Amino acid sequence: MNKPLKQHLIDPEICIRCYTCEMTCPIQAITHDDMNVVVDADKCNFCMDCIPVCPTGSIDEWRVVETPYSLDEQFEWTELPEQAEISGGDDSTEALDEAMAALLAEAHAGAGGKSVAPASASKPSINLHTIGKPVTARVQGNYRLTAEGSDSDVRHIILDMAGAPFPVLEGQSIGIIPPGTDAEGKPHLPRLYSVSSPRDGERPGYANVSLTVKREPHGVGSNYVCDLSKGDEVQVTGPFGATFLLPDDPAARLLMICTGTGSAPFRAFTMRRQRMSAGAAGDMVLFFGARTPDSLPYFGPLKKVPDSLLKKHFAFSRVEGEEKQYVQDRMRAHEDEVAELLADPNTHIYVCGLRGMEAGVDEALANIAESIGLPWVTTRDAMRAEGRYHVETY
Ligand code: A2P
Repeated sequence: MNKPLKQHLIDPEICIRCYTCEMTCPIQAITHDDMNVVVDADKCNFCMDCIPVCPTGSIDEWRVVETPYSLDEQFEWTELPEQAEISGGDDSTEALDEAMAALLAEAHAGAGGKSVAPASASKPSINLHTIGKPVTARVQGNYRLTAEGSDSDVRHIILDMAGAPFPVLEGQSIGIIPPGTDAEGKPHLPRLYSVSSPRDGERPGYANVSLTVKREPHGVGSNYVCDLSKGDEVQVTGPFGATFLLPDDPAARLLMICTGTGSAPFRAFTMRRQRMSAGAAGDMVLFFGARTPDSLPYFGPLKKVPDSLLKKHFAFSRVEGEEKQYVQDRMRAHEDEVAELLADPNTHIYVCGLRGMEAGVDEALANIAESIGLPWVTTRDAMRAEGRYHVETY
């Protein structure tokens, strides 16, 4: 009988196929096929470099096994197997349990914990269309969202899924495969974009989705998408994402914090709530950071959304003659409003945008929580376990 081993795995239901872990792994222990991204047990040395870069926590899965799952087995999975009973005797399993506990503590410290979907969220469809079998969508529109003179070129792209089954929930992402090959001559991997339209389509009842994409200097995916014209065909994979979802419970209160194109899922959340026939009892509060009003995606339409549906706080970092403001500064300026939300068990927190803002936002939330006697780390971990705390940064 083999001595039990710990094996590092990826949860195929939660993984959003962004391939960041694969690109980060220093020893090429992570690989993918058309379906799944997987870890090679023969190569993985538990260095943990892949853990903090994963936006969903799907990378943070571990099993004690007598025989490691092969790559071929993992490629077939649509969900993770349960932990199997181990027959290696009490001593060895106990020692391994301890080793696992230490490993998990270390892994969770890096990743900030695993994501959990809101309890009332609809069940998402995942990975219906893979790299091997993408959908050919057609571009219905490509509109610039930021002022012509602004140094930030952000686009609103509408894709018609051409009748293919492509159910998306607010908060999910899709992949777009840029044509051509990379420097090594391999086909480009899909680039992930958050959907900014609600589940019933950009236009209600039409099988179309919208994206919010910023042109990045030398970005293969973003330049391809931002240059698309009406009528162009695009190869699309997905949908992806099983945790950063809108609660269906209309009484859920939402505290949403974003920078730039991180606003995409919040546009979808807001439109979903606007279109819900009975409306929603739970309020929504948005903290949104951008360089200037000209470079804040959807600034005009957002200002028209009534405060009774969505309370908005804008933070501008580069307005001439004004003090630099980040979202965390606006949160501190409105600490009573944030504190009241933090104390309410109906509140869900969503953070989306620049990875750099994560630490500052966490610190602001910690200060505000602690000012009303809530120990932040315990509160945040409990909220996360209840599916009420969600972070997606890149
Ligand atoms: P900055 O002016 O310092 O770059 P955009 O996508 O248009 O660049 O917007 C991102 C916004 O997020 C900018 O206002 C940017 O400010 C701001 N930002 C940059 N770093 C952080 C951070 N660490 N915390 C919060 N906001 C940040």
